[in-house]
Amino acid sequence: MKKKVLLIIIGIIVIIGSVSGVLVIKHINYTKTYEYKFTKIGYSKEEVKLLEKELKNEELDTLLNRKYNKNITKFIKEKYFIFNNLDEYLKYLKDNKDKNLTDVIAIVNTNSNNEFYSNTKKTDISKNELMLVNKYNYLTSDYNPDDLEELSNVYAYGTNQMLRHDAYNAFIEMWNKASEDGYKLIVNSSYRSYEEQEKIYNDYSSWYGDNDADKKAARPGYSEHQTGLALDIQSYCSEEKKFDECPEFTWLSNNAYKYGFIIRYPKDLEHITGYNYESWHYRYVGVKASTYIHDNNISFDEYYAYFIK
Ligand code: DAL
Ligand code: ZN
Repeated sequence: MKKKVLLIIIGIIVIIGSVSGVLVIKHINYTKTYEYKFTKIGYSKEEVKLLEKELKNEELDTLLNRKYNKNITKFIKEKYFIFNNLDEYLKYLKDNKDKNLTDVIAIVNTNSNNEFYSNTKKTDISKNELMLVNKYNYLTSDYNPDDLEELSNVYAYGTNQMLRHDAYNAFIEMWNKASEDGYKLIVNSSYRSYEEQEKIYNDYSSWYGDNDADKKAARPGYSEHQTGLALDIQSYCSEEKKFDECPEFTWLSNNAYKYGFIIRYPKDLEHITGYNYESWHYRYVGVKASTYIHDNNISFDEYYAYFIK
């Protein structure tokens, strides 16, 4: 009888021992999970689910070293969120509480949280038709595209209007379709050398002062016209009216992207592009990029930051 009782007691001890052993192991394993680690620093389980869905492990590990901030998961939900920019998003939002998160993402991604013409670097020309030339990325004075082709007077005013080979072909194709549909597009500026841009900028500067000149013309080295991928388009109508009041503009708005062209300085994006709205300035970026930019209504600067850089 005594033996039986002893055996039962031993049995109970063994069961309790193994159950608690299992529980301890389970807990140890749980402390190794992101859920445990993130909830410990203040995230909710819901938020951790989002983090685990959206971030890579090395990003999660980096984030574990940051203090909890409720805006982090809000930023992560944004379409164009870039993990490496997270600290800058948080800082910019802190200093600009009136801005919405989507704008903060666009501004930081495009470097526009820095003053124009500050933090500048050499354009990565290896990106070819997707190279970015803006107020932070410049071409050196000796950069000249080596595949420029001249547009005849059928398409352009004056002589010496040139575009790079692919942009040239795409433009001719677009011009032909526009013409078929009853619209005549006229190129009034295309490739410009560093020196030509310097002259334009200096003229604008003497007419309008540096501040206004900067909203209308690029400083030498910072103009897309030097890439041979940009062109200014006008029409007979625009001799009397603003270009964006002309049917040629409407046609371009609906069709230019099909040929790889985008409106490079759209309305309401001056804080990102640094230029007033230019309804006449088109940039060749290839059909994949132009279609995305057209469909999603973003600037090339934003597209470049998210997809190309
Ligand atoms: N007008 C455009 C911004 C340029 O000068 O390149
Ligand atoms: Zn232009």
